[in-house]
Amino acid sequence: MARLHECWLTEGRNIAPEQWKKYFTTIYCEYTGRVADSVVNELKRTANTLGSELYRTDDPETAGFVLAVDRTLGAGGYRISVDDTSITIYGGDECGFLYGAFRFIILASGGYTREEIDRCCEQPAYPLRMINHWDNADGSIERGYAGNSVFFADDTVTRDREALTDYARLMSSVGINAVCINNVNVHRKETLFITDEYLDDIAFIADIFSNYGIKLFLSVNFAAPVETGGCETADPLDENVRNWWKNIAANIYRHIPDFGGFLVKADSENRPGPFTYGRDHADGANMLAEAVIPYGGVVVWRCFVYNCHTDWRDRLTDRAKAAYDNFVPLDGKFADNVYLQVKNGPMDFQIREPVSPLFGALGKTNMIAEFQITQEYTGQQIDLCYLVPMWKECLDFVTFSGGAGDTVKKRILGAAGVTNVGNGKFLTGDPLAGANLYGYGRLIFDPSLSAERIASEWVRAALTHEQEAVKTIVSMLIRSRDIYESYTSPLGVGWMVVPHYHYGVDVDGYEYSQWGTYHYADRDGIGVDRTSATGTGYVSQYADENARMYDDIDSCPDELLLFFHHVPYTHVLKSGKTVIQHIYDSHFDGAEKAGELLEVWKGLKDAVPPEIHAEALKRFVMQLSNAERWRDVVNTYFYRKSGIDDIHGRKIYR
Ligand code: GCU
Repeated sequence: MARLHECWLTEGRNIAPEQWKKYFTTIYCEYTGRVADSVVNELKRTANTLGSELYRTDDPETAGFVLAVDRTLGAGGYRISVDDTSITIYGGDECGFLYGAFRFIILASGGYTREEIDRCCEQPAYPLRMINHWDNADGSIERGYAGNSVFFADDTVTRDREALTDYARLMSSVGINAVCINNVNVHRKETLFITDEYLDDIAFIADIFSNYGIKLFLSVNFAAPVETGGCETADPLDENVRNWWKNIAANIYRHIPDFGGFLVKADSENRPGPFTYGRDHADGANMLAEAVIPYGGVVVWRCFVYNCHTDWRDRLTDRAKAAYDNFVPLDGKFADNVYLQVKNGPMDFQIREPVSPLFGALGKTNMIAEFQITQEYTGQQIDLCYLVPMWKECLDFVTFSGGAGDTVKKRILGAAGVTNVGNGKFLTGDPLAGANLYGYGRLIFDPSLSAERIASEWVRAALTHEQEAVKTIVSMLIRSRDIYESYTSPLGVGWMVVPHYHYGVDVDGYEYSQWGTYHYADRDGIGVDRTSATGTGYVSQYADENARMYDDIDSCPDELLLFFHHVPYTHVLKSGKTVIQHIYDSHFDGAEKAGELLEVWKGLKDAVPPEIHAEALKRFVMQLSNAERWRDVVNTYFYRKSGIDDIHGRKIYR
C-alpha cells in the first residue's frame, strides 16, 4: 500500500515550511503509551517531510510541540492551540492526541492558516465509529472496486506491517476506532478466523491497530459451532453451544486483549441464523454478547434481515417492511453490549431511499447506522458520487418518535461504513472516491459539519490548494449525487441495474426476480404503493407526522414519490412536470451534466497531481458513456410503455 499521499495524509508534503517548520524542533508528551508514541512518530514523519528532525524533550516550556492531557475534553476529544513558539494539542486521552495531531497535519497540509487551526476543538459525537470490510480470505472483496484486500490473499493474512500501519494511520486520522476486517458473508475459510488456525495472524493486525486506538472486530458465521465440527447444533439456547462460544471468546481475548467483538449477518440472504432453531434475533445476539461481555466486548448485529425469495406476483409482501417487522417486536430484549446495525434506508443502499423507519421505532435498543462507502449502486467508483450529502440526510432526518427535534443522529451511538478501499493502483480505485472515505470518518466524528466543509477539507489536503480549483472540485462533488440520480432510476423507485453487478442500466433486470425490488411499470404508470390505506402498509412504520407526509400524495416529496406511490405517467409533480416528462428531462439533463463533469475535469489538468488527474479522467469518460446508455434505455423504455412523447421533441429511440 503505502500510497496514502493519494488519499489525504500527505505527511506534510503540502505543508508550508515557512509557516510551520519552526515548531518541528522538540516535542513534549505528558503521557506515555503506545498511542501517544504513534502520535509522536506521526509528527516526526511530518518533520522529516519538512526537512527537519523532531526530538523528544522533558521540558514543556521550550518544546515546539506539546501534547497535554485535559480530561475535560473526554475520550477522543482534543483542542489545538497555536502561539508564536509552540503548538499544544490537548487531549482528553491518548486518542485525543491522535485525533488532534492528525487534524493539525491535515489542516496544515490543506493550507489552512494558523488562525484557522488555532482553537480547533472537537469531541467525537459517538463512541463507535466503525469501518466494515467486505474482504474475503482469498483476497477478493465483495462489492470492492479498488482491487483486492489489504488484509488477505490466498486464504492467508498478509503480514505486511508497513501497509497495515499506513492503513491504521489513515483510518485513525479521521477518527475511526473500530474496524471489522472480514466480509459479513462468512464462508468456509473465514469461519475459521476465530480459531487457532488464524488467531496469531489476526492478532498481528490487531496489535498494529491498537497503536492507533482501533479495535479489531471479526464477522462471524452463526453456524460456526456446527461448521467447525464443535457442536451438533448452533441453537443459541443450547448450553453446549453457549459454552462453545464462551471458549471461543476466551481464546480470542488471550490472543487479542483489546478485541472489539463480533459483527453478525444472520438469517439474511441465505446466511444461517437463529431462525433455523425457532429462536429470534435477541436470542442469537444475546448468546454472543454473553460470551464477550467478561472482556468488555460488544456484538454488532445487522438488521438487514428480509426474505430474498419473494414472488413478484405477490404485491403485498414488501421487502422494505422487513427490518422493522423483524426487530421492533424485540426492542428492549437485547443485552447492553449489543448494537443493532441499521442500513440508512429500508432497501439496500440505493441512490435515493427514505430513511429507515427502524431508527425511529427502536427506543430501548443500542443502534448504529450503516452506510455504504463502497459505491455498489452509486457508480462503483467509476461515476462520481459524493455520498456525504446522502448520509447527512439520514442523520438529520426527524423521526418524530421523541418529539419534533428527534433526529436519527440523536438516536444512534455510532455508525459503520462499508469501506471502498483495496490494494489496486489507487487505494479507493477512483482517487476522487477518497472524498467519501474521508467524509464518512469526519461526518461521524462530527455530524454537524457541512458536506461542503468536508469536501473542501479533503480537496485541499488531497488534491490542491489553488482556490479556484478547490471551488470547482468541491462543486463537482456536491452536485455529483444529484447528477448520478438524474440519469439512473427515477423518483426514488430504485434498482433498474444490471442484476448481480449493479452497475449499468437494465430497467427490468430485477422486475420478475425473487429479490423483492420492483418498480411495477406498466402502460399507465409506475411506482410501488406503500401507503397505509391501499398499499403494502410500509408507511405506517413511521411516526404519525412522517406517515401522514408520505401517505398523502400531495405532501410526499417528489424525489421519493415512486417509492411510496404508484402513479400514472401523467401525474403532475410539485415541480409542475408530469412524471413522464420528469423522466425524459432528468435523463437528458443527467447525461449532459455527466458530459460537463468530464469537460470541467479536463480543465483541471494543471491543478491536481498528474497521476490522479489521468486516473479520474478515464473514469469521467466511462461515466459519460454509462449516463448516455442509461438515458437512452430509460427514455426508450418509458416511451414504449406510455406512448407519450417528449414535449421538447428530443431524440428518443423508438
Ligand atoms: C447487498 C450486496 C451484498 C451484501 C448485502 C449485505 O445486497 O449486494 O453483496 O452482502 O448487501 O449488506 O449484506
